[in-house]
Amino acid sequence: MASRNGNNVSSGGPSRVVCVTGAGGFIGTWLVKELLLRGYHVNGTVRNPESNAHLKELEGAAERLTLYKADIRDHENIRNAFRGCEGVFHVAAPVIDDKAVVSLAIEGTRNIINAAADVGARRVVLTSSIGAIHMNPKRSPDTVVDENCWSDVDYCEKTKNYYSMSKTIEEMAAIVEAKARGIELAIVIPAITTGPMLQPRLNSGLMHILRYIVGEKTNLPNAVTGYVDVKDVAQAHILVYENPNASGRYFCVERVIHRAELVDMLDELLPEKNIKARIKNNIKEKIKPYKFSNQRLKDLGLEFTPLKKSLYETVKKFEERGFLSLPKDMDFQKLIRASL
Ligand SMILES: NC(=O)c1ccc[n+]([C@@H]2O[C@H](COP(=O)([O-])OP(=O)(O)OC[C@H]3O[C@@H](n4cnc5c(N)ncnc54)[C@H](OP(=O)(O)O)[C@@H]3O)[C@@H](O)[C@H]2O)c1
Repeated sequence: MASRNGNNVSSGGPSRVVCVTGAGGFIGTWLVKELLLRGYHVNGTVRNPESNAHLKELEGAAERLTLYKADIRDHENIRNAFRGCEGVFHVAAPVIDDKAVVSLAIEGTRNIINAAADVGARRVVLTSSIGAIHMNPKRSPDTVVDENCWSDVDYCEKTKNYYSMSKTIEEMAAIVEAKARGIELAIVIPAITTGPMLQPRLNSGLMHILRYIVGEKTNLPNAVTGYVDVKDVAQAHILVYENPNASGRYFCVERVIHRAELVDMLDELLPEKNIKARIKNNIKEKIKPYKFSNQRLKDLGLEFTPLKKSLYETVKKFEERGFLSLPKDMDFQKLIRASL
């Protein structure tokens, strides 16, 4: 089983080579770190090697990490990065609500699966998103949200949730393509991911937290969503990769809460910030968190980190990086690394 401290390299084995696309992002960096600790040789794809120097600081990177410059749509460079790999973790995706992400993510994912099949890789693990599961207004309140649930693509488009739309169609395209090419596919579906960032720039999920802390966001939507820790997301990828019977979708979520509860937790962690006092709460009747199941990953041995602990580690890292004292009127988009 995947070990949190990384000491167990026996099942990973020192000679196994895998590739991680989007190696330098929030989830990608944690996945590369855990794979290196387990003894894997890792090929990582990045678009800009200069802005991903942090990967070279990871334990084992000097001996077992090779970076390749590649866009997910670039067949030749991707194939080059995959050569000699028995498995591919396709983590890279533009995390932006822009219509253009839909075709980009689908083209990229088809390319990744075909390149993996071309070089003879055995298995692809795709990183999807809760956005591919929970955006469905027709779901009954009694539904237990799990791997059987799919977001409604038309609803995503109508409500301009292009990121969720892209992740839903991306998954569907991956399933079709993997079947056509005879390659194994397992899909990890993380909720909003929290925890300590290792990469230099923020991603959209962490920005969602930071905006409340610095006071840039003061409105409280009557909304619920799921959260999970980044180390658990990395472990989930490794578990579905290493378990020969793992296949299909795996919902990776620790809990589902109302936004007001998230604000309460942040307020408790950082009382000096007066987060709650700044929030405009006009909600008359809070919608209830939906029921969910993360049993498939628990059955593979994953023990989920409680959200409170994960938020504590998120905030500690923000503090170290000086993000907690950022002025609320700055251009926060500039801090996000995402681009098409
Ligand atoms: N964090 C969350 O809350 C969360 C939740 C659910 C699912 N996910 C999924 O997790 C994955 C990683 O997201 P993240 O949160 O770690 O975000 P991130 O830090 O923004 O990482 C995204 C990565 O994708 C790469 N990328 C984007 N477009 C690309 C392209 N056209 N070609 C090659 N690489 C490209 C980025 O490379 P550059 O460095 O060159 O920009 C970056 O390394 C995504 O698939 C996302 O949908 C994230």
